[in-house]
Amino acid sequence: MRFVAAAFAAALAAQKAAAFSNVYSGRRFSTSIKMAEKTALSQDELKKMVGYKAVDDYVKSGMVVGLGTGSTAYFAVERLGQLLASGELKDIVAIPTSVRTKEQAESLKIPLVTLDTHSKLDVAIDGADEVDPDLNLVKGGGGALLREKMVEVCAEKFIVIVDESKLCDGLGPGFPLPVEITPFCHEHTLRTIAALPSCAGCDAVLRMGSSSSNKPDGDEIAITDNGNYIVDLHFTEAIKDAPKMAMELKNTVGVVDHGLFCGMTTAVIIAGSDGISVKEA
Ligand code: 5RP
Repeated sequence: MRFVAAAFAAALAAQKAAAFSNVYSGRRFSTSIKMAEKTALSQDELKKMVGYKAVDDYVKSGMVVGLGTGSTAYFAVERLGQLLASGELKDIVAIPTSVRTKEQAESLKIPLVTLDTHSKLDVAIDGADEVDPDLNLVKGGGGALLREKMVEVCAEKFIVIVDESKLCDGLGPGFPLPVEITPFCHEHTLRTIAALPSCAGCDAVLRMGSSSSNKPDGDEIAITDNGNYIVDLHFTEAIKDAPKMAMELKNTVGVVDHGLFCGMTTAVIIAGSDGISVKEA
């Protein structure tokens, strides 16, 4: 464990309710527990904690590493860049899951390869939009679900990094499920998806504007890195059988892939106001 100081772990175990302040300084992370005064961490600080910890705990020299996409994965990529620059990690090659992660990795001089040359990854690190108690995920809020799934399914370990707001009792109502579809006759495919037995009652909405957000922020249909469209499925009730829905979506002609990541997670690193915890599958 490179990043989270022993004192931090001990303090967390000793005092769950304690507030703490964090100071990142290069390679070291120090935490001072303030028993009396509660300091709320920003969501970005929480994301940074889990992003850094994932790299510190799971990436070793010589590995092939999958780099996720989104505001949490951003910090894992940043950390990998730091440790390569300092020489603490060597002989790493990485596979990015989106154009924007590729650009970030290039700016940090992280050596990149693709699945075409490296079909097996040692570890992949990525964020998620929702995590259920079985560690099934909804992903793709940032529009990168196809490349994320292609890369992460090839990783021996898939490490998910989230803040505690992403934890849920059941997938669905807390975050719309993204489905990547072909542009060809997309309205037909959208109707077909909405009529699937497992999707009954959902509101299927074509993503507009930027593909990296499910908030409509433009008049044009959003286009993914792969030239496809995204339909966001809004549910009012928890998805009862996520693996079944995953199968029905995958079997729908016109669907390229969907944001249900079932049975893929090795561990989830969760940052909350009480500290960091890890849930293993
Ligand atoms: C992108 C994703 C992201 O991992 C997911 O949206 C979480 O992003 P963030 O860390 O910004 O909340 O699946 O397609």
